[in-house]
Amino acid sequence: MNIILIGPPGVGKGTAAKLIQNRFNIEHISTGDIFREMFDKNNELARLAKEYINDGNLVPDNITNALVEETLKNKKISRGLLFDGYPRNIIQAKAFEKMLSNRKIKIHSILMIDADEKIIASRVEGRRVCKKCKKVYHIKFRPPSKFGICDVCGDKLYQRKDDMKKTILKRLEVFKSVTSPMIKYYEKFNTYSLIDGSGSIENTHNQILEVLEKSNDFN
Ligand code: AP5
Repeated sequence: MNIILIGPPGVGKGTAAKLIQNRFNIEHISTGDIFREMFDKNNELARLAKEYINDGNLVPDNITNALVEETLKNKKISRGLLFDGYPRNIIQAKAFEKMLSNRKIKIHSILMIDADEKIIASRVEGRRVCKKCKKVYHIKFRPPSKFGICDVCGDKLYQRKDDMKKTILKRLEVFKSVTSPMIKYYEKFNTYSLIDGSGSIENTHNQILEVLEKSNDFN
């Protein structure tokens, strides 16, 4: 079972991905998470990725595609793969098609989660992330039991630098201009489904399950 999860910044892709991963026991590959894991490393690639991300821009395609290629090389694929936030433009989509076809990997479902910008803004503004275990919270919609402290590991929660208002506006602009043409391309695939992400976390998850369970490949 191989899935691509796409959607505007902060719509709830990562949250949905964790639930799919738990339900189907498949590998979650998030390019955003991979880049953030690099942040503490003291090298040129980490510095460059941080600069693009904190400015709200996409990391250049050659870097991102090479990173996904490397990740695929090192992954032992058993039950399936869930790509979250990759690809993000037509160039990446085409490079990804080549990587998949070289490995005879078929994508069974392309899920596009969408919601309006007001909803997205409220989700991004309230997002907090654990410094240590990276669990994602929301101050209103998914609060930790103790303010500012992770329920899982007890470490401090922080706000992502790219979740500042000015940067999120830039990320939304990049989504519209750069990612939307790729979505138009994917809309023609019979594996493409639009998920309404404006409701609760559970509502989004249930819609995703419905789509995945309808697909013959999973039965
Ligand atoms: P990435 O981390 O992938 O950022 P993104 O796509 O902008 O998505 P987010 O992580 O911001 O949000 P999400 O949709 O996962 O929402 P979440 O579930 O956390 O990438 C970061 C950066 O890395 C990019 O800007 C780019 O620079 C670079 N990058 C990454 N991939 C790249 C690529 N392929 N090419 C080039 N550059 C790349 O939810 C948000 C909040 O809402 C949380 O607090 C959550 O608890 C809450 N929430 C979620 N769902 C709901 C709900 N239904 N109801 C209420 N609250 C909800």
